[in-house]
Amino acid sequence: MANTLLKVSGLKVAYGGIQAVKGVSFEVNEGELVSLIGANGAGKTTTLKAITGLQPVGAGTIEFLGRSINGQGPWDLVKQGLVMVPEGRGTFTRMTITENLQMGAFVRRDREVEDDMEKVFAIFPRLKERRHQLAGTMSGGEQQMLAMGRALMARPKVLLMDEPSMGLSPIMVDKIFEVVNDIHGRGTTVLLVEQNASRALQLATRGYVMDSGEVTMSGDAKALLNDPKVRAAYLGE
Ligand SMILES: Nc1ncnc2c1ncn2[C@@H]1O[C@H](COP(=O)(O)OP(=O)(O)OP(=O)(O)O)[C@@H](O)[C@H]1O
Ligand SMILES: [Mg+2]
Repeated sequence: MANTLLKVSGLKVAYGGIQAVKGVSFEVNEGELVSLIGANGAGKTTTLKAITGLQPVGAGTIEFLGRSINGQGPWDLVKQGLVMVPEGRGTFTRMTITENLQMGAFVRRDREVEDDMEKVFAIFPRLKERRHQLAGTMSGGEQQMLAMGRALMARPKVLLMDEPSMGLSPIMVDKIFEVVNDIHGRGTTVLLVEQNASRALQLATRGYVMDSGEVTMSGDAKALLNDPKVRAAYLGE
C-alpha cells in the first residue's frame, strides 16, 4: 500500500466572489514526484497556497500525514514538513546565500543545520562558491536554486514547488529540472507545479492536469505525456 503523505479532497478556494479552485482532489504518496500541470490561471498556485495555509480553504479537506491540516498556518505546516518553494522564489535579496539558507532552518532547533547546509551545497555547488554574496546579486536561476536550497533546509517531508523554471533561460531551465530530479532522487517527495508540461511529466511518477479550477485528467505521468489530448492542449502539438 502506498503511504499517502498529502491528500487533497474536494478543495474549493475563492477570491471574493471568484471561484479559483472548484473542487480539486489529488494525492501525493511517499517517494513520488507528482506534477500538477495546466495553463495560466488554472488555479495551480491557489491550490498550493491553500495547502500551505496562505489562502483560506472554502470547502474540502487537506490531509497531511493522515491528519486534517485545514486552517493551520504556514509556520506550523513548515515545522511539520510541508514546505513550499514559492512562485517568484521569494529569496531575501539583502541577505547572503548562507543567511538565506539559515533562514530555511528557522523552524528547527537541532544541531544538524550545518550538516544540512553541506548537503544543500552538494546539490548546488554554485551556492557554495557564492555563499558570502548577497542573494539579490545573483541571476534568476541561481536565486531559484537558493529558494530550493532554503526549502530543503527545513527538511521537507513533501516539497511543493511552484513553477521553478519560470522566466529562466533554456540552459537554466535544463539545470533546474536536473536539480528537481536530483532532489527527488535523493529521497524527497515532490509536488511540482509547472506550465512546462512536457518537462514536468518526463520527471514525474504521476501527473494531474488542471483547467479552470478543476482537475480534468490524471494518471501515470508517461501515459499523460503520450495522451493525444494532453499533447494537443499542453505540449503544443
Ligand atoms: N489574489 C488574487 N485575487 C483575485 N483573483 C486571483 C488572485 N490570485 C489569483 N486569482 C485568480 O484565480 C485564478 C487562478 O489563479 P492561479 O494564480 O491560482 O493560477 P495558476 O494556475 O497558478 O496560473 P499561472 O500558471 O499563471 O501561475 C485566476 O483566474 C486568477 O486570476
Ligand atoms: Mg501560478
